[in-house]
Amino acid sequence: MLEAVKVLLEEVGCFTPQSEEELINFRVKFLGKKGVINDLFETFKNVPNENKKEIGKAINALKKNAQKKVNKFRGNFKSVELSEKFDLSRPVNLDALGGKHPISLIRNRILSIFKTVGFGLSEGPEIEDDWHNFSALNLAKEHPARDMQDTFFVQTNPDMLLRTHTSSVQVRYMEKKAPPIRTVSPGRVYRNEAISARAHCIFHQVEGLYIDQGVSFADLKKMILYFAKEMFGEKTEIRLRPSYFPFTEPSAEVDVSCNICNSKGCNVCKYTGFLEILGCGMVDPNVLQNCGIDPKKYTGYAFGMGIERIAMLSYGVDDLRLFFENDVRFLKQFSSL
Ligand code: DAH
Repeated sequence: MLEAVKVLLEEVGCFTPQSEEELINFRVKFLGKKGVINDLFETFKNVPNENKKEIGKAINALKKNAQKKVNKFRGNFKSVELSEKFDLSRPVNLDALGGKHPISLIRNRILSIFKTVGFGLSEGPEIEDDWHNFSALNLAKEHPARDMQDTFFVQTNPDMLLRTHTSSVQVRYMEKKAPPIRTVSPGRVYRNEAISARAHCIFHQVEGLYIDQGVSFADLKKMILYFAKEMFGEKTEIRLRPSYFPFTEPSAEVDVSCNICNSKGCNVCKYTGFLEILGCGMVDPNVLQNCGIDPKKYTGYAFGMGIERIAMLSYGVDDLRLFFENDVRFLKQFSSL
């Protein structure tokens, strides 16, 4: 074995590369993962103990010399060949550029619709306290409606939780600002739900809030109709169904006419001709009071919608999980929008 190492040592000693390619080949041959030096170290394990010292020394010297050679000639060869091999003036391949996620696209679209009619933007924390997520919104500790939203609590502090809706942001906003208030709050929300085609434990909402003197339910209806037409097309109609939310009184759920079947009835709208898009209502006087706003002087409306739901309706996506899987084949379809 010693003889073989000596021959290699000689080869290294004589080596003078004429091109970058020769130098690369040399490095790969001697120092590469599967190169001769690593091979020698493998064989070295079986060398009898009495020969180990001498042979070990020789292999180490070989390694050192090979490395020295590489260091000495590295950078000596201008990459003439590189510019010959590759056309450096070729434009970058734009195909590889990412696009916006469909949820971001829809969120931006929703926000820009409300921006044109004077709604500002506000955001709040995703880890929220009980007050802002529940109590201030008229959901006292034992309120049965807390079960409407299955909550993830912070284990070490039961007063803290992952917000179940962006309605918590309207509380924070009202606590800080005096009316007139006109704001939309987008964000991620969390609920302890089994993941399916229609539900996920993480999703996104946009909350809207308008508080001033003399705001009425008619204003709310007009605003929602304007939004629906901008979002889904001029021909869109809306339908308000009486509903219940602890933080609004009266409350309603809003449906839009199904633009897939023109309200004739299809399996997306379950043959009703309408699709539910949001919850809304007049802010309950208790909520205004909780947030330091005089309910005798001011009234207001609020609404909340799920971005995934709007995205599913806008793009005809029938499984909510697709928005979270980050499958490029799915995402690519939105990259030019
Ligand atoms: N926070 C409600 C939810 O997550 C949605 C909602 C309903 C928001 C009515 C509102 C509202 O502001 O007025 O289900």
